[in-house]
Amino acid sequence: MANKTLELSDLASGKKTELQLKSGTIGPDVVDIAAVNKDLGVFTFDPGFMATASTESKITYIDGDAGVLLYRGYPIEQLAENSTFLEVAYLILYGELPDAAKWEDFQKRVKSHTMVHEGIRRFLSGYHHDAHPMGMLVGTVGGLSTFYHDSLDINDPRHREISAHRLIAKMPTIAAASYKKNIGEPTVYPRNHLSYAANLLNMMFSVPCEDYEVNPVAERALDLLLILHADHEQNASTSTVRLAGSSGANPFACVAAGIASLWGPAHGGANEAVLDMLTEIGEAKNIPKYLDKAKDKDDPFRLMGFGHRVYKNFDPRATIIRQTCYEVLDEFADANDPMFELALRLEEFALKDEYFVERKLYPNVDYYSGIIYKALGIPTTMFTAMFAVARTAGWMAHWMEMMSDPTQRIGRPRQLYTGEMRREYVPIDVRKPAGTA
Ligand code: SDX
Repeated sequence: MANKTLELSDLASGKKTELQLKSGTIGPDVVDIAAVNKDLGVFTFDPGFMATASTESKITYIDGDAGVLLYRGYPIEQLAENSTFLEVAYLILYGELPDAAKWEDFQKRVKSHTMVHEGIRRFLSGYHHDAHPMGMLVGTVGGLSTFYHDSLDINDPRHREISAHRLIAKMPTIAAASYKKNIGEPTVYPRNHLSYAANLLNMMFSVPCEDYEVNPVAERALDLLLILHADHEQNASTSTVRLAGSSGANPFACVAAGIASLWGPAHGGANEAVLDMLTEIGEAKNIPKYLDKAKDKDDPFRLMGFGHRVYKNFDPRATIIRQTCYEVLDEFADANDPMFELALRLEEFALKDEYFVERKLYPNVDYYSGIIYKALGIPTTMFTAMFAVARTAGWMAHWMEMMSDPTQRIGRPRQLYTGEMRREYVPIDVRKPAGTA
């Protein structure tokens, strides 16, 4: 790699520094800014990390302009077409597609962790009946660490690997149990002869008094959604997991932090917010009114499921999900499902509107996923929990990547301070009322 440098000088002080440019396999170079503070005594400033690479990673590559998404170099379209979520989880964790022996072994290991300690059921019984599943996931996953004191040595690669297998295996069990809590039905134990997606559907929808057969179209559709949501580079929740893990926190606590971040409507909570938005819009004739609201800076309303920090073209995942909607609705719902029709019309209106075109606001992964979840009978409140189940594979891969890096150190950004200068304490009996000189 040619030795590429940038020179930065402070014209006022005449101080200069040379910054090293680093190139990745593909994608934009990065400027190593370590010398900026050392040589010029200043910090860089990038609220929201709009132009900041926080780490080096080999897991996922995104090209936002070209609409490219690669997991360990494999295009998302090919994985969606040919793989399964659990095989993608292996790929994301270990960097290669498994050979037959490794695949057998991985499935066995994950399946040996699908049950949760019976104490977890008592955890869930403590929540209010209508507790949001994401709140139950945050609390329960964080509490998982209290059951595994035998494997919390984060410096032991084997402990890290067992924790990753445990979390990938147990997230569906806990998510499904949260759903059963909400609807007042008994929790269903995992059935290890089922596939990952079929197990999740069975734990959500089977009941003790009747036979339940997982519909293969539903199994395939859910597995596809899990693949598409498995990882996405340094998004907010993955960055949260990395920052939490950088202090040495245990992986269960880190994933609980990731779940909390994913819950936000600007991130993973958007899939739930899209369905609420479509319900509020109601019918196509109201679309112009809501587009105006989305464009009004004084109105907090945003077109949920639209826009993306990285994709300034189509989100390849949204394209795949939109196509899958047709297949799923054919099987499960009225192919002219009014909600799907409305979503298609809203996309059509938005993509003709100057405001959205100018800002390159396209449907993202959350825009159509809810249409499929709803057709599978999954309630809106469970949409982000489904996202969390899938993203646990990515969160664990990034956590393992970070923890196995010998140069890893605690993440501790600085700030631009604009508060008060130093001032002396004033006893309350001589303090003037607020606002008086
Ligand atoms: C996910 O990071 C990831 O990879 C996330 C994710 C993953 O897999 O992990 O892909 C999953 O979180 C997808 C995004 C789901 N969120 C939503 O759908 C919520 C709605 N979208 C917006 O909140 C927003 O688009 C974000 C949060 C997704 C992106 O925000 P940015 O990058 O900070 O963009 P911005 O807010 O600076 O927007 C740029 C402009 C602004 O207008 P101007 O100030 O230039 O006039 O576009 C406007 C914004 O007001 N804008 C929108 C809009 N999104 C951006 N206006 C109306 N509706 C929107 N949805």
